[in-house]
Amino acid sequence: MYLTREEERVLNGEQGSAKAKMLRILVKMGEVLGAERLIPVSSAQISGVSYRTIGDAGLHFLRSLKDASVVVPATLNPIAFDEEHIGEMEVDDVMYEKQMAIVNAYVDMGVKPTMTCTPYYFDNVPRFGEHIAWAESSAVIYANSIIGARTNREGSVSALASAITGKTPEYGLHIEERRKATHIIEVDFEMRSEHFPLLGLYIGREINGIPYLRVRGDEDDFKLMGAAMAASGSIAMYHVEGFTPEYRGALHDEVERITVEEKELADLAGTVDNVELVAIGCPHVSGAELRKIAEFVKGRKKRSDVELWIFAARSTIERHASEVKIIEEFGGVVMKDTCVVVSNAGRLYKRIATNSGKAALYLRKSRFGGAEVMVRELYTLLRSVIA
Ligand code: F3S
Repeated sequence: MYLTREEERVLNGEQGSAKAKMLRILVKMGEVLGAERLIPVSSAQISGVSYRTIGDAGLHFLRSLKDASVVVPATLNPIAFDEEHIGEMEVDDVMYEKQMAIVNAYVDMGVKPTMTCTPYYFDNVPRFGEHIAWAESSAVIYANSIIGARTNREGSVSALASAITGKTPEYGLHIEERRKATHIIEVDFEMRSEHFPLLGLYIGREINGIPYLRVRGDEDDFKLMGAAMAASGSIAMYHVEGFTPEYRGALHDEVERITVEEKELADLAGTVDNVELVAIGCPHVSGAELRKIAEFVKGRKKRSDVELWIFAARSTIERHASEVKIIEEFGGVVMKDTCVVVSNAGRLYKRIATNSGKAALYLRKSRFGGAEVMVRELYTLLRSVIA
């Protein structure tokens, strides 16, 4: 792999041992993946933040990087709880202390404690064509597909390495020709909102590549579809005709054709009786979603036998304080910094309804022994919690 003089100097430890160690990781990765050089990135998004995911070993690793600091804007994925809702989440002291130690280790390096998987709304907004190094799979697929920024699916260590060095190996989705479609997905029924997360689960399970779709939806529909696709498989990008910024020129003669029938999605939705928790916000909700929820529940009363938890980025909550107030008056809880998957929700509730294919996939096989989960569209969920 070709390295510039400056990169050689970093590798030799001239800018500290932590930076040298991080660059070495990226160079090794690049060599394995066939990159010819490193390229600069304009931002990083870091996963591996929940204590439940990285444990003591992860905390120890972060502390070993004491002399490191990030050189590009970097943001953090959700953690195990929302400090203001520790009671509902039943967080014990050890979890609390270790989790905060992890966040502080990142903050000491200069990472912004955004704790969201939707940094693209306000906190870390890439532009079309920019090279970035992001780790959260739902954010990666959103950035590539809906924004047209360029990132591979980074791991937590490689994204952190990019944040500290400002570089990433040039391979995969950083290269124009690797961003073309590999499959065309024919949907032989009329798509409604409820179908998007299920279609995402289905495509992720069936293909490994870049799907091209001819369906109509809005940004939030595609956000849910992409997150599910990335969770059930290894997809990091899709094209939607007439919607995503790079669909022109994405098709070519060698794409494989796959037809999806409505009945194939029905099984993925599932059915659950006596739902205990309705969870919305995987990925974290947008301002538009918060507005829809607030408009629907305004002046109504929530059933007392079912909880409504909504997960959003702090920055989204701050900008939509009036909608949050309406939802809270209704009896819903709007949480920041965490999500239904990385929090204790899957331990506390065993019958869950959500509009997220990704949440359903993870909660059904959660480390807490799994929950029964059904996937429904937003308004069906909201109707189900009205007294
Ligand atoms: Fe985000 Fe948590 Fe879902 S990180 S995509 S809300 S699993």
